[in-house]
Amino acid sequence: MSKQAKQQAKQQAQDAKKKTVVRKAPKPGGRAKARAAVAKTKNGKSATAKLARPRVAKTKIAVDVVKAPRPRRPPIKMVPAVAPLPTMVAASAGPITAADISVLAYCRAGFEPDLLTEIMAHLAATPKASWALPGSGFVRATFAPAALKRLHMVLHEPMVFARQIMRAQSTVVVLGSVDRVTPIVNAAKEFLTQLSIPNIAVVWVEYPDTNDGKSLSKLSMALQMRITQQLDELGLVNAQAKRRLHVFLTSKGEAWLGLTDIEHSSSWPLGIPRLRMPADAPSRSTLKLAEAIHIFIGDDDERLFQPDMRAVDLGAAPGGWTWQLVHRGLYVTAIDNGNLRGELVDNAMVRHLREDGFKYRPNKPVDWMVCDMVESPSRIAKLVGLWLSEGWARHVIFNLKLPMKKRFEEVERCSAIIDEMLGDKAERAVLQLKQLYHDREEVTGYCGFPPRARQA
Ligand SMILES: C[S@@+](CC[C@H](N)C(=O)[O-])C[C@H]1O[C@@H](n2cnc3c(N)ncnc32)[C@H](O)[C@@H]1O
Repeated sequence: MSKQAKQQAKQQAQDAKKKTVVRKAPKPGGRAKARAAVAKTKNGKSATAKLARPRVAKTKIAVDVVKAPRPRRPPIKMVPAVAPLPTMVAASAGPITAADISVLAYCRAGFEPDLLTEIMAHLAATPKASWALPGSGFVRATFAPAALKRLHMVLHEPMVFARQIMRAQSTVVVLGSVDRVTPIVNAAKEFLTQLSIPNIAVVWVEYPDTNDGKSLSKLSMALQMRITQQLDELGLVNAQAKRRLHVFLTSKGEAWLGLTDIEHSSSWPLGIPRLRMPADAPSRSTLKLAEAIHIFIGDDDERLFQPDMRAVDLGAAPGGWTWQLVHRGLYVTAIDNGNLRGELVDNAMVRHLREDGFKYRPNKPVDWMVCDMVESPSRIAKLVGLWLSEGWARHVIFNLKLPMKKRFEEVERCSAIIDEMLGDKAERAVLQLKQLYHDREEVTGYCGFPPRARQA
């Protein structure tokens, strides 16, 4: 990057910083058993695979469906971060052309720069232009054509901060005030032709997960119906197709088009899972563990959580995570100086110990350890590594509360700590980290040794 471009980027980063808005995520409504809700929802895209193939077997078909572990991903080399540009501005690498590679990704508002850093790290490239305005809920970046060879790293591998990520059209669709459908349909035809894609299975019209974005929800529903209808009439919609078309409305006046591979992307609109709060769970954080199990374990839920298994919950009070485990039939040792609430207080499946979660050791190995203690991320990562390397637990789900800055780097640092503590066992382990919808300033991780699926 030239000196002048660097200065310009620095100035724009400062401007972007001034505009930072962190908005609260909406609360999912309704009351019913979370487990039933989990069973009903479809699987979402899971997160960073650090040690081996990230997705555990997600089918109960009686064949060996576990694929050979992937070679370990080499540590990510951080690309010097370009300052996120607050507008779609071509930087030093020249104007944007049709051959350039654009990606569009959705995230929690406030985490845009972290997501852009993650995308750049995986593509090992600096974008020609990017948009990662804090508070906007999305990131767009355009890279030179060479990025194509690593594009699968962001489209097909789990990401930490992206709720949904897609190959995007490099040009914006400007919507008319009277007819918004025709420009989108024309752009979609052009986009599909450009990528030689004959048809799409479905169209989703989406918007940022922000207060402003939500004002577009009614418009998005109306547009989705009409765009689908018109593309269908043109023979471009086929339910069997492998891809999904996303129309992302960033304001009433413009839209961006993207394509996802249905098999390798979140199957929830906006990448947001809809889970219902169980009426009798003691805390809302029960939804976090429900989502983590759904994302990381998926269809293997019943195989990895069997009645009579044993679990330890470190930092258990008031008991939302313990509740999830007990409702899957597990015996839980709940470690916390605080009180458990509700039905857990007198539940014969729960043993509550008022001890320090960092000092507690189980008498014999358990199937699961879960940890929601609020502590420095590296201390939690060391504890996770210790429990797994000592064989005290076979599977661990944990939370890492992130710092305010360099959050992707912190996630990578914690992954490396766990990796190092596992030593030789790392080759057989699966490690995934993801900022779940129910996470705020944190990410959730799974690390463990999932068993191979049973043979027929
Ligand atoms: C975020 S809350 C856990 C919420 C819980 N997962 C739920 O679903 O209800 C964090 C808990 O960790 C506990 N905690 C923090 N440090 C701890 C430690 N060293 N040992 C045991 N518990 C600890 C706190 O008392 C607090 O109850």
